[in-house]
Amino acid sequence: MIKINENFKKMKPNYLFSNIAKKVAKYQEENPDKKIIKMGIGDVTRPLPKVCTQAMKKAADELENAETFRGYGPEQGYDFLREKILENEYKDLGIDKDEIFISDGAKCDCGNIVDIFAKNNKIAITDPVYPVYLDTNIMAGRTGICKDNGMYENVIYIPMTEENNFVPLLPKEVPDIIYLCFPNNPTGTVLTKDELKVWVDYARKNKSIILFDAAYCAFIEEENIPKSIYEIEGAKDVAIEFKSYSKTAGFTGVRCAYVVIPKTVKGYDENGNVEDLNSMWNRRVCTKFNGVSYIVQRAAEAIYTKEGMKEVKDNINYYKENAKIILETLKECGIKAYGGKNSPYIWLKVPNSGKSWDFFDTLLEKVNIVGTPGEGFGPSGEGYFRLTAFNTKENTIEAMERLKNFLSK
Ligand code: MLT
Repeated sequence: MIKINENFKKMKPNYLFSNIAKKVAKYQEENPDKKIIKMGIGDVTRPLPKVCTQAMKKAADELENAETFRGYGPEQGYDFLREKILENEYKDLGIDKDEIFISDGAKCDCGNIVDIFAKNNKIAITDPVYPVYLDTNIMAGRTGICKDNGMYENVIYIPMTEENNFVPLLPKEVPDIIYLCFPNNPTGTVLTKDELKVWVDYARKNKSIILFDAAYCAFIEEENIPKSIYEIEGAKDVAIEFKSYSKTAGFTGVRCAYVVIPKTVKGYDENGNVEDLNSMWNRRVCTKFNGVSYIVQRAAEAIYTKEGMKEVKDNINYYKENAKIILETLKECGIKAYGGKNSPYIWLKVPNSGKSWDFFDTLLEKVNIVGTPGEGFGPSGEGYFRLTAFNTKENTIEAMERLKNFLSK
């Protein structure tokens, strides 16, 4: 008899964004004439930079010829891309090429990384949080069940709310694995170098590891906000970093990202012996992955050309302009909002102290706008709501006009 992974029973039936997609699809089916503006899941609307699609076409042509055809590539990624990443993202940060692993997405990396850690590690997540960190640990059996307060047993929740200015405080109980995402998903807020250093020092002191999701680092515009955790002294001993091309070059559908695991980051076996996490991850990658396709890696390489970087910058500025429109509208409407400056996400306080799923229903049904209810990101997200700046400018303006009219009634 086939036995299932019982941990799945502890999970909510649907992944947050699938749940929302289902609700929206149902509403649209029942109201086919309504124009719904989607500001829920952080999916981009700007097309790929031209240099990327050109690189893909060229790569496809190469695959057509026996002389230039390529089969299996290196599981860790082609050197041509790893070198470009080093040069452009980690210059002077002391990272080596073989500490970079190319992948098919930061979501997959964040989920897969748990393979190399023991089940009895205690995880800490910020609350609210990108649901992947928690869900993948529930699946792996690293948590207990969900309690009545919406929190899982055996997980350390670190609140990030207005009260602490969205700066996570060190927890009372020491975690083994600490998930940090900055610029933050979902709140859109950031940490300064000093604020992040507190966590790096803490992880060093306690032999913990920080899993640092930097998927939104390209949106940082303010000084003194780290674009990589390795800008912080000591981080190379305790941090693994995830980065992605999804939200910068529009690769949400193309799929390409990378994870950085410095060789200096160590873990410990049951007897306290030191183990090298870079080698363990390499072992895992070689067993479970055959690398990102050659075509996609050539497209990612093209991002680092002069034209590619300009297009990416233009895209980011385009989304930032949308974020500004959203923030201004919310201000006009007297709604408190956070983020949206170094991030594509705007985290707003639900008007009249309302519940986030009620606000979701109201916006969908009365204003035909889709956002993400804060509660979906964790108990401390209740009372908040996330909007993304990833739609087109026209739709963003229209959505904000609709919202303004609705709230003024
Ligand atoms: C989000 O909306 O939070 C993101 O799009 C999710 C993701 O990148 O997987």
